[in-house]
Amino acid sequence: MNRVKALRVVNVLLFLVFLGIAISGLTAFLFPGLIPYSTFRLAHPLTGIALIALVIVHLVLNFNWIKANYLKKKK
Ligand code: HEM
Repeated sequence: MNRVKALRVVNVLLFLVFLGIAISGLTAFLFPGLIPYSTFRLAHPLTGIALIALVIVHLVLNFNWIKANYLKKKK
């Protein structure tokens, strides 16, 4: 899979996983008890780990852009 195709997949997953963690976290905060704690304590941290992994993959796939825009040497 080339970089652009990989990013297309990773970005959709990032969006979905971000929605999942934000909704589960905010629901637990705003409506305690709505999600059973046994479900939350399994699903929320696993989604968090997936989010962190996807962010790292996203940054690696965009590393050339990061280098060009943030890490270039000043003349
Ligand atoms: C928008 C992002 C997030 C929101 C709004 C959010 C919100 C929350 C809230 C409100 C709790 C406490 C729930 C309760 O005890 O009633 C919680 C617990 C927790 N969160 Fe998040 N969180 C977010 C992202 C993350 C991420 C990225 C991770 C990374 C792994 C993470 C890991 C955890 C863990 C390990 C707990 C403790 C779970 C337990 O009680 O066993 N959260 N979060």
